[in-house]
Amino acid sequence: MRWWQVAALCASLAANTVQAQERFSIFAGSSPEAVERMVKLAELRDGDRVVDLGSGDGRIIFTALDAHPGVRGWGVDLDPKLVKEATAEAQKRGLAERVQFLHQNAFDADLSKADVIFMWLWPEVMYMLRAKILREARPGTRVVTNIWDLGSWKPDYIDETALPVNLWRVPAKVGGYWNWTLPMSGIKHNYAAVFEQHFQQLEGVVRSGDRRGVFKNLELHGAHISFSLDMTLDGEGLIRHHFSGTVDGDRIDGTVRTVLILKGEETAERLELPWQATRSTTSAYFEPTGLVIR
Ligand SMILES: C[S@@+](CC[C@H](N)C(=O)[O-])C[C@H]1O[C@@H](n2cnc3c(N)ncnc32)[C@H](O)[C@@H]1O
Repeated sequence: MRWWQVAALCASLAANTVQAQERFSIFAGSSPEAVERMVKLAELRDGDRVVDLGSGDGRIIFTALDAHPGVRGWGVDLDPKLVKEATAEAQKRGLAERVQFLHQNAFDADLSKADVIFMWLWPEVMYMLRAKILREARPGTRVVTNIWDLGSWKPDYIDETALPVNLWRVPAKVGGYWNWTLPMSGIKHNYAAVFEQHFQQLEGVVRSGDRRGVFKNLELHGAHISFSLDMTLDGEGLIRHHFSGTVDGDRIDGTVRTVLILKGEETAERLELPWQATRSTTSAYFEPTGLVIR
């Protein structure tokens, strides 16, 4: 089946508001050109494990493994005949040691093992898989789709040299309350931060002492987070902070560069400090102004 036939069929199915995921299970192979671009977009490295959710005849996995001898992979598909054929093809290509095809629903695949997730399923099914990917896949896992995207979870990159192929990096979970302390001039400054998260998009506010501020330039790429903050600190003056770190569950480890701002200009007074933040269930951000936070 050609892509435009698939698109037309999809539109017709969507118009009929077909709900059951089983009814979306039709095999149409990605074009060889799209497969090449998907594999390139995944930026595979030695040791990577790749999965194709709805692997069909296995063409994406085979292309990935042929191009990268240090990569292993597996595919899952609802259609047992395709699983059998892909398994036989793997043996024929001498790839049996590096690849496995399972007769399994994509919703039951173990995504915690994957470094790259390939998908070309019906848009509704890929949309339904978002929650599973965000819950189970490790931060930084690359997700690559052919043609269709993931709704309001916007791709980090779209290759539009032909029909789109799309790339996402699974973002770390940052939304919520975080605390940290920075020592400056012998004083410990406590920070109580509140982050709001929509996929890889972050916004945030923070309190230190009885002042509150807004984070700027927030970026989240997989587990790597960075943002800046201009805030007056008692005994220091207006300090520009540049935070950069790695999210690991309920901790962030990184560094913060601070610069003193005078009359709106950065001065030569700079400091680089280790930055360690921990997640918390409550936040001093919301305590009444006038109470110094500890
Ligand atoms: C459009 S084809 C894509 C095949 C292959 N990934 C490619 O791009 O060439 C979709 C495949 O997903 C399978 N499929 C559909 N829904 C599935 C599900 N929930 N779990 C596993 N496989 C599914 C179908 O049987 C079909 O082989």
